[in-house]
Amino acid sequence: MSGFHYKDGILHADDISMVDIASEYGTPSYVYCLTEIKKQILALKQALRGSLHPDNRPLIAYACKANSNQAILNYMAQQECGCDVVSGGELSRALQAGIPAERIVFSGVGKTDEEILQALQAGIHQINVESLPELRRIIAIAEHSTISVAVAFRMNPDVEAGTHAKITTGKSDNKFGMLRGDIKVAYKLCEGSEFVEPVGLSMHIGSQLTALGPYREAFGVMADFVNELRSDGHEITRLDIGGGLGVIYDDEKPIDPAAYTDLIKEIIEPLDTQIILEPGRYLTANAGVLISRVIYAKESENRNYLILDAGMNDLMRPALYEAYHSIRPVMEQGGRKSRAYDVVGPVCETGDTFAKDREIEEAKDGELIAMMSAGAYGAAMGSNYNTRALPAEILVEGRNSAVIRQRQDIQDIIKKDIIPDWLDTD
Ligand code: LLP
Repeated sequence: MSGFHYKDGILHADDISMVDIASEYGTPSYVYCLTEIKKQILALKQALRGSLHPDNRPLIAYACKANSNQAILNYMAQQECGCDVVSGGELSRALQAGIPAERIVFSGVGKTDEEILQALQAGIHQINVESLPELRRIIAIAEHSTISVAVAFRMNPDVEAGTHAKITTGKSDNKFGMLRGDIKVAYKLCEGSEFVEPVGLSMHIGSQLTALGPYREAFGVMADFVNELRSDGHEITRLDIGGGLGVIYDDEKPIDPAAYTDLIKEIIEPLDTQIILEPGRYLTANAGVLISRVIYAKESENRNYLILDAGMNDLMRPALYEAYHSIRPVMEQGGRKSRAYDVVGPVCETGDTFAKDREIEEAKDGELIAMMSAGAYGAAMGSNYNTRALPAEILVEGRNSAVIRQRQDIQDIIKKDIIPDWLDTD
């Protein structure tokens, strides 16, 4: 069996047991199953092929903020995906992992001069520009370095994405993108530049979308604007429609990829441009779990706690968005009763809680627990809070497993601190 499944009562990724992974690599560890990533890439590609004209091969620019491990990025490159990067760091990772520069797009509201120059020198596909001041910097840097660059203007379509407020990005009061008036000014600014070529528009309205309606609305706004810009005499050869496809964490009903690609066929394809997609979560979320050990099962008068060796610094989503992650025992023991637990980490914050009152099979000290659907925005959002080392990351395919990121060494964290000489007040 492939993917994550139970075999003889033990959670496996493909042919490998999570018990073996934990004893070989320790806990907490992220475990990714390549088969699941492959499945998602194929599903999206098939849906695109099914809906769009056979000659139309959109660029799938994986939003690598979701999971930027270089092994994952290398695999994306092998699958002919590109990358959407949002920092110089992500750009370096993507290039080093083997993503060709001509398949990289660079989004983000606060690109520094250094990052812009890095993108120009790398020769990336396009910069998605999010403001007029940013465009002015790009024009100046391109002029100074005499390097040409294609830019797309990220439009803020002012639509409600119907997702968590903290991951909504396409409302006019969100910091992202530009409104129509500014984009028209942006086109004008580019007329005076020998090196900056405007190629079209980009958009990203939010993440974990589970309804097609917001996409329909946003694509419609984009199409109207493309027609308006074209009638003003501007050439539009590329449209980047962002990411956002939601996945199942609990009982969500995610968007059918074919319905999504049919919508692209209906509204975006007739505009006859290159199409760029930026999926992140859809490709990796359900391809990863965080395995962790129960340090203590603590019972107080009114609550049962499972205190794990993973904390909010390892998987931040529950603390940050009250996000739901399914929590499963690595060893299911059928006959055991279930109990309502508060599943918490060791970090000194009440917010370091993965779940409250969650019914889980009774667990004891030392048992292994898996937090499911942690392949996107899991390891990538980890921090060293409480001077806790970042977990190891393990990749599994079939019978193979490998460490793709070593567990951080505490000394690596501590040694960056410097105590200045003048602090010696004697
Ligand atoms: N493109 C841009 C410009 C983005 O800002 C994002 C995500 C994506 C694409 C990919 O979106 P996706 O396909 O993954 O939904 N940390 C949050 C999610 C933040 C998403 C930020 N932008 C979470 O854990 O839910």
